[in-house]
Parts: sequence; C-alpha cells; structure tokens
Amino acid sequence: MLTLQEVTKLYQKDGQTIRAVDQLSWQVPPGALAVVHGKSGSGKSTLLMMIGGMLNPTRGRITFHDRDLYALSRAARNRFRKESVGFVFQRFHLLPYFTIAQNIGLALAMKHVPDGPDRIRRLAAQLDLTDRLNHYPDELSVGQQQRVAVARALVGEPDLVLADEPTGNLDRENAALILDQLRSVAAAGKIVIAATHDDRLLAHATHRLHLTEGRGVAATQLPSSMQS
Ligand SMILES: Nc1ncnc2c1ncn2[C@@H]1O[C@H](COP(=O)(O)OP(=O)(O)O)[C@@H](O)[C@H]1O
Ligand SMILES: [Mg+2]
Repeated sequence: MLTLQEVTKLYQKDGQTIRAVDQLSWQVPPGALAVVHGKSGSGKSTLLMMIGGMLNPTRGRITFHDRDLYALSRAARNRFRKESVGFVFQRFHLLPYFTIAQNIGLALAMKHVPDGPDRIRRLAAQLDLTDRLNHYPDELSVGQQQRVAVARALVGEPDLVLADEPTGNLDRENAALILDQLRSVAAAGKIVIAATHDDRLLAHATHRLHLTEGRGVAATQLPSSMQS
C-alpha cells in the first residue's frame, strides 16, 4: 500500500512561495493502475517525484508498504529508489552514448540478474523495439524513445512504477503498447501511478486523482475495460 498523509510541497522562488502540492491525502493499493490528472502546473510531476523518494515533502508523510520514505536515511532511501521504483521521466533521460539494449539494462547493471538479457529481449519485443536494440537513442523516433524509457523502468521488476506523461504526444498505437505494459504490471500486483492529461489512460485507471493547484480529489472506479 502506498499512503500519503497531508502531503504538502512548497517551492521558494525569488521570494515567492509556490504551493505545488497542498495537504494531499491518498491511498493506492497493490494491483492499482492509478492515474493522476490535472492541468499543466497542477502538481503532477512534483507529486510523482515525492512518491518516488526523489523530493522531500515540505510537510506530511509518505509510506510505501509501511516504510516512511522520508524518515529513512538518505542511503536507505536511495536503496528504496533503486530496488523498488521504476520511473518513466517525462523527458526520457536516455543516455546518448549507450545503445537501446544498454539503456534498458541500466537498472540491472548493479545487481546480479541471471535472466537480465532475457528480460531485456522480452520487454523489447512487447514494446516493439526488437530491431532497435543496437541503435542509439538519437536514431529513434520520439515514440520509440518513450517505449525505451518504459522498458528501462520495468526491467528491474519494481514494486512501484511511476510514469510522468508516459503517453504524452504519442499516437494511438504507441500509447496502446505502453498502456498494455502498465496494465499488466498492475495486474501482477504492483502499484502503477501515471501522471497524464491523456484521457485514453484515464479510461483504464482503477484509481484516479484529480489535481487542481496542488489540491486533490480522489476516486476509485472499475476501469472501462472491466465494466460489462
Ligand atoms: N523546482 C521548482 N521550483 C519552483 N517552482 C516549481 C519547481 N517545480 C515546479 N514548480 C512549480 O510548481 C507547480 C507544479 O509544477 P509541476 O509539479 O511540474 O506540475 P505539472 O507536472 O502538473 O505540470 C507549478 O506552478 C510549477 O511552476
Ligand atoms: Mg509535469
């Protein structure tokens, strides 16, 4: 279970205080495909980074499977990030001098994963990247790069997958490939949280959080694919 209790994030900039996330409480159980939606600037990326252990909340508490993320030591939180979180960044963050296979395998580089090469091939196949594994990021289309970013986030089989606009600006086919992956990860009992303004994702969400200027309204629903 992921639990947020009265989480607030304030940014200070040029003597001004920006209330990016405002007293937000939310719970997301294993198996959820949760979608955070709201206008640009409503606090989605800030929220994802806090959940991923990358950004300290100003106030409030975030717990993941009973671990209070920001009560952990820095080393323990880094370990949590490496072992438990797969993050799909909005701007992909692919490494330009590494091949696609190497980029996908990055999350495995520091640990002993005997079936690592198999996992990379399997994910590449599911995301239609098989014939691009020896290419470099700048030789790929934006849609392909986005799929690489998704494969990289999933290859370590993390318990928590966070995706910031994972289908932003993608055509229907690309978006569907990514959505299929996120759904099957959630179906396997992990927690998936995607921030998006893409209604196609919203339709498949088991949990929704609508943000307006950092304030949230949560809802639970059956995804349309499960409604008869
Ligand atoms: N590092 C930062 N410093 C100051 N303000 C920030 C910073 N990051 C984001 N913000 C502000 O916080 C608010 C929420 O931003 P963000 O979380 O990126 O929203 P979204 O992802 O929904 O577009 C916006 O008003 C944004 O300008
Ligand atoms: Mg954002």
